[in-house]
Amino acid sequence: MNFVTGGTGILGSRLIYDLLLSGEKVRALKRKDSNLDNFNKIIRFYTGDKNILNNLEWVEGDINDISSLEAMEGCDYVYHCAAAVSFFKNDRDHLFKVNVEGTTNVVNTALKTKVKKFCHVSSTAALGGSVVDGKITEESFWVSDEGRSNYAITKKLAELEVWRGIEEGLNAVIVNPSVILGPGNDKSSATIFTKVRDGLRFYTHGINGYVDVRDVSNIMIKLMHSDISGERFLAISENISFKELFDSIAEHLQKPAPSMEARKWMAAIIWRLEALRSALFNTPAFVTKETSNSAFSKSYYSNEKAKSMLKHDFIPISTSIKEISRFYKNS
Ligand SMILES: NC(=O)c1ccc[n+]([C@@H]2O[C@H](COP(=O)([O-])OP(=O)(O)OC[C@H]3O[C@@H](n4cnc5c(N)ncnc54)[C@H](OP(=O)(O)O)[C@@H]3O)[C@@H](O)[C@H]2O)c1
Repeated sequence: MNFVTGGTGILGSRLIYDLLLSGEKVRALKRKDSNLDNFNKIIRFYTGDKNILNNLEWVEGDINDISSLEAMEGCDYVYHCAAAVSFFKNDRDHLFKVNVEGTTNVVNTALKTKVKKFCHVSSTAALGGSVVDGKITEESFWVSDEGRSNYAITKKLAELEVWRGIEEGLNAVIVNPSVILGPGNDKSSATIFTKVRDGLRFYTHGINGYVDVRDVSNIMIKLMHSDISGERFLAISENISFKELFDSIAEHLQKPAPSMEARKWMAAIIWRLEALRSALFNTPAFVTKETSNSAFSKSYYSNEKAKSMLKHDFIPISTSIKEISRFYKNS
């Protein structure tokens, strides 16, 4: 039996689908208010076969409610995908509560229930900026919190909780995906597609890593069924610019591509105005200092470890965008 947290998200829904498709049983944690309509819509996009969900059992809980995690009892494999994803300053405490405390609870319960293996979903955001041959690798450890978003800091601290669990005997692996492209609701990285669909006007030449959700899910399952333990793996297909990404999504959604280049000085004014608006009206800022910085930064990630150790072939980003756009076009 597999236990999955975050099963209603972009990554968790694909992971559940892949596990069920390979004939495995899944017990997935969902919150009281989790939107299962969205999950079902994503599964319908993957398959027309309703029977696929026969081996899926939902249990209600929350990673911040330790007693609800006892549902892990009797499960061999635990996939921890749940997290809060936000760049809104006011969400700082929430990010610490869910990402750090929540992961501590999941790790401690996995140790207590003696699961066979644990897979933690971290992020490239949890990696340091130091580079090897011009690229960020699994060895690029964190240097300083300065200029890092609360999301990144909490993902780093969450990962440290898993390393602590490994020290205490947890048989675990960690994946660090770059930006995940996949069908989802209007949250997390799904907003890349919905923003372009709804008429995004600005682009930058900043560069980041991207990966198809199918690659992340496959790598997680491969790692869980391997002898590999106590290691982390970057999951990234290609490093491309925001302009290339937006242009390709716009083309497949048959929408106008963002046509105005945002300059650094514009962004510096906008994030300050947005911070003021956000503080006055207590609503999320459209652009924050950190998102503005990352829109202009050029980060290159290496996928050599997953390619060589797991023999994993990544889906080209142009293929991902073409296929995933069908979901957002019809939703
Ligand atoms: N998307 C990306 O580009 C990206 C890149 C790198 C790493 N990651 C990591 O990948 C993982 C999955 O991200 P995603 O993009 O799939 O996110 P998502 O679509 O926003 O899904 C987040 C999931 O976490 C659940 N969750 C949030 N708070 C919870 C809590 N307190 N207790 C239990 N479940 C909770 C959500 O449940 P509800 O349905 O109830 O909200 C949802 O199932 C996260 O760890 C994220 O940090 C994502």
